[in-house]
Amino acid sequence: MKPKILVYMRVDDRVIKELEKDFHITSFQNHEYIGNRTFDQALKEADGIIGLALKVNKELLDLAPNLKIVSNVSVGYDNLDIEELTKRKIMATNTPGVLDDTTADAIFGIMLSTARRIPELDQFVKSGKWDISLQPNQYGVDVHHKTLGIIGMGKIGRAIAQRAHLGFGMNILYHNRSRNKEAENIYNATYCELDELLKQSDFVCLMVPSTKDTNKMIGAAEFKKMKKSAIFINGSRGKNVDEDALYHALSNGDIHAAGIDVFTEEPTNPNNPLLQLKNIVTLPHIGSSTTECEYGMSKLAAENLHAGLSGKKPPSLLNEDASGKEK
Ligand code: GLV
Repeated sequence: MKPKILVYMRVDDRVIKELEKDFHITSFQNHEYIGNRTFDQALKEADGIIGLALKVNKELLDLAPNLKIVSNVSVGYDNLDIEELTKRKIMATNTPGVLDDTTADAIFGIMLSTARRIPELDQFVKSGKWDISLQPNQYGVDVHHKTLGIIGMGKIGRAIAQRAHLGFGMNILYHNRSRNKEAENIYNATYCELDELLKQSDFVCLMVPSTKDTNKMIGAAEFKKMKKSAIFINGSRGKNVDEDALYHALSNGDIHAAGIDVFTEEPTNPNNPLLQLKNIVTLPHIGSSTTECEYGMSKLAAENLHAGLSGKKPPSLLNEDASGKEK
């Protein structure tokens, strides 16, 4: 009998078709599965699950006695309780590598949109207000040759540094748990302590994973250390930033502007006060959301699932100690 898998948002249709050859699939492609009986039944029988952002915690795992692998269709895995999964010998995998360039492109889009006020000026044209030439109070600020501080120099951070240094002639500062010699040698990035980075950067770009150590790591004190002209970009996870402090920093003029792709709660509440501000560009977590990249992530997640359920080591296994559960 084919192993049973549960597919939830968002796995590419072509990849689901491939998976159907080897697995018995139950698929949920919208958010209505939470607390849904059919979902719970499929979970009860599932050997593997594949999808995005489902909170996989103790309570969920109690409903899934047969589970051998959780294949996350994202590089971030803050939705997974890795300790609990490992304790139960359930493999966990993610999709590193395939989204680095796509996400770095998105971050650059957000930086440019914020600095050059692109969404606001788009609205200006579309609403028919463009009657005379642009006024100085509508001008943006330059991106090229400015100082970019990247907090979190992983693979995506490095792809951002590449664009910034080679394309925009920017000076790169970075802060990271460990030194990144490649970024230093190829993109001329300079390692510095967080405080120094905050003080010196024209653009501060947050790219760290979400862990208990990074929770609200950028708050009131950090915004105060930034230049008043600084533009803050969050391309990581909303929880890494104190949203109230960001609101105050933007409305008090502690920083010039912000561009954020992520929120503490997603989707964010339409009444989130940040959405009322003019000097913030907001996006609905688009980092890896291109047709090509989403396909690549789904494919890698399927490879992980396939390997895990056929007794092989998944290419992006997060918890080595969990492999080897009796199949
Ligand atoms: C996107 O945010 C991801 O973690 O893949």
